[in-house]
Amino acid sequence: MEEQRKQVEGIREAFKAKFERFANLRSAASDLKLASAEALSKELAEFKIKSTGKKSEIAEAKKLIGKVAPEERGRFGQLVQAAEKEITDLLEKAEAELNEFITAARIERERLDVTIPGRRPRTGHLHPITILRQQIEDIFVSMGYAIEDDREIETDYYNFDALNIPEGHPARESQDTFYTTGGFALRSQTSTVQIRAMERRGVPIRIIAPGKVFRRDTPDMTHVPMFHQIEGLCVDKGITMAHLKGTVTEWLKRLFGEDTVTRFRPSYFPFTEPSAEFDFSCFVCHGSGRVSSEQRAVSSKEGESAGEQLTANSSQLTDRCRPCKGSGWIELGGSGMVHPNVLRACGVDPAVYSGFAFGFGLERMAAMMFNIDDIRHMFENDVRFLEQFK
Ligand code: DAH
Repeated sequence: MEEQRKQVEGIREAFKAKFERFANLRSAASDLKLASAEALSKELAEFKIKSTGKKSEIAEAKKLIGKVAPEERGRFGQLVQAAEKEITDLLEKAEAELNEFITAARIERERLDVTIPGRRPRTGHLHPITILRQQIEDIFVSMGYAIEDDREIETDYYNFDALNIPEGHPARESQDTFYTTGGFALRSQTSTVQIRAMERRGVPIRIIAPGKVFRRDTPDMTHVPMFHQIEGLCVDKGITMAHLKGTVTEWLKRLFGEDTVTRFRPSYFPFTEPSAEFDFSCFVCHGSGRVSSEQRAVSSKEGESAGEQLTANSSQLTDRCRPCKGSGWIELGGSGMVHPNVLRACGVDPAVYSGFAFGFGLERMAAMMFNIDDIRHMFENDVRFLEQFK
């Protein structure tokens, strides 16, 4: 009996030593983290099985009850039961404490303080290039044009050959083109979409194609290696240069006002014949090249930068209009009658159909309209700059 009593005592001692880490949870709970409490709870469950399950030492001890002398059996039985009860009670108490802590911690984690002021989402706004592009798109859509969007990575065929710029043609050099390692060109002009659109839609066709173009230019105040162009194309029976001039003049009048006039200067582009560059009368001085001090005040009112202030002050002495540099004209883009070779490349018979095309860049135009002194600002994504176009 003495031996068995010692054995039970040993079981109790061993249990208590191992139970130590689950004891006193209540006082430890303050710095217990939810995750470690959850882990501890798992361990406790395993420990409970080990300590009280069928194969536990206390279960083994119960089997000894029948083996002690009958007169001592009662007392020994009580001893074992008392040890078992103590073990079970301690385990259950620890379990209850741990569960209580976990429940409270979970509630705390999911708690919402509805009285905290909300975070107002900052509403976005359009980039100046997008603003201008959409204004021009609206004008052309109202004149019955469709908007074409097309790829920025092209083959030499679409960037050059189909546009009547054969290999070795100097125009290939003047548009210093970026190439991918796979030999594709980042399109250097939106004129590529003339070909794509005619192949896709056939003729008659009236489209404009806004988009990004890429050229190997070193960035400075008026150059960036990626910029935006808008291409226009109209092909039908009986289209003449008069339609070109009428269309270009009409959209510029709608954008800058009824009194806007245009000017076409003979030029050369491989994909048009004849070709012309077009200018429009300055939207600030209306073609005079001079500005009154009131006009200047109005034209430099918005988005004035330190650099602009200087220019404005010095122009006060000469009264020279700034956007047109005193010439009264703003040069905008290229245009012409679509070259017969371009029509042929798209399977269109130049004996039946004729058309005009034009193309111009958006950055310099936007820079003038919004008083931006350096077009690089448009791609630096500095919110202090961008927020001025809200
Ligand atoms: N693609 C020319 C350029 O990037 C611009 C241009 C000129 C487009 C004449 C045209 C055109 O459609 O007819 O410089």
